[in-house]
Amino acid sequence: MPITILDHPLAADLLTVLRDKDTSPARFRQHAERLGYFLVAEAISDMPTDEVALETPLEPTTGTMLHRPIVAVAVLRAGLGLLQSVLTLVPDATIGFAGVQRNEDTAEPIEYYTKFPELSAARVIILEPMLATGGSLSWAIDKVKENGAKDIVCCCVVAAPEGVGVIEESHPDVRVVAAALDRELDPNFYIAPGLGDMGDRLFGTL
Ligand code: URA
Repeated sequence: MPITILDHPLAADLLTVLRDKDTSPARFRQHAERLGYFLVAEAISDMPTDEVALETPLEPTTGTMLHRPIVAVAVLRAGLGLLQSVLTLVPDATIGFAGVQRNEDTAEPIEYYTKFPELSAARVIILEPMLATGGSLSWAIDKVKENGAKDIVCCCVVAAPEGVGVIEESHPDVRVVAAALDRELDPNFYIAPGLGDMGDRLFGTL
C-alpha cells in the first residue's frame, strides 16, 4: 500500500496546533479543516484529467478538468472534522457516511449507520483522521468496496505504524495520505504522541 506523509511546513504548523492539549475545540475545528485542505489536495493529486477547450477573455485555449467524480466518505464522528475541507475544495463531491464505534475494551469496530452515494465510477476519499489499530478504517474500506468502490484513498491526520500495517495487509490497493506517522499505540489503543481523541477534541466532549 502506498502511504504518503505530507511534507509541508504549513501542514506541520497546523498539526502542531492540533496536537497541543490546550487548543480549544473552536480552534481545533478550524485547524483540522485547514489541514484537511492539504490532505484532500494530496488525495486528488494523482487523479486523471480530461483536456477541455475554452475561451479566455483574450483567446481560445485548453485546460484540464478532473475526469472522475469524487465521493468523500466521513467515518463518524471524527471524519466530520475533514468534511468541510472536501466540500470547499470540491463543491460537487457527493458525501457518504460510515458510522462505526469502537469497542473500548477490544478496539473492534461496531457498525451503527452507513449511507453511500454511487461509488463505482468515483475516486472515493475516506475521511478517517486517526489511523490507530486500523480496525475502523479496514471496516470502512470493506464497506465501500462492498458498495462498488474501486478507487480509494484514505485521508488521515495521524497514523500509527500498527494501523498502517493492518491496512497494508488487508487492503494493499488503497493509498493512505497522512499528515504524520507517529511512534506507536499506547495500551488503550490511542496514538502516541498523537492528539488525543479526535472526536472529543472537535466537539468538546472531553
Ligand atoms: N482515535 C482517536 O481519536 N485518537 C486516537 O489516538 C486513536 C483513535
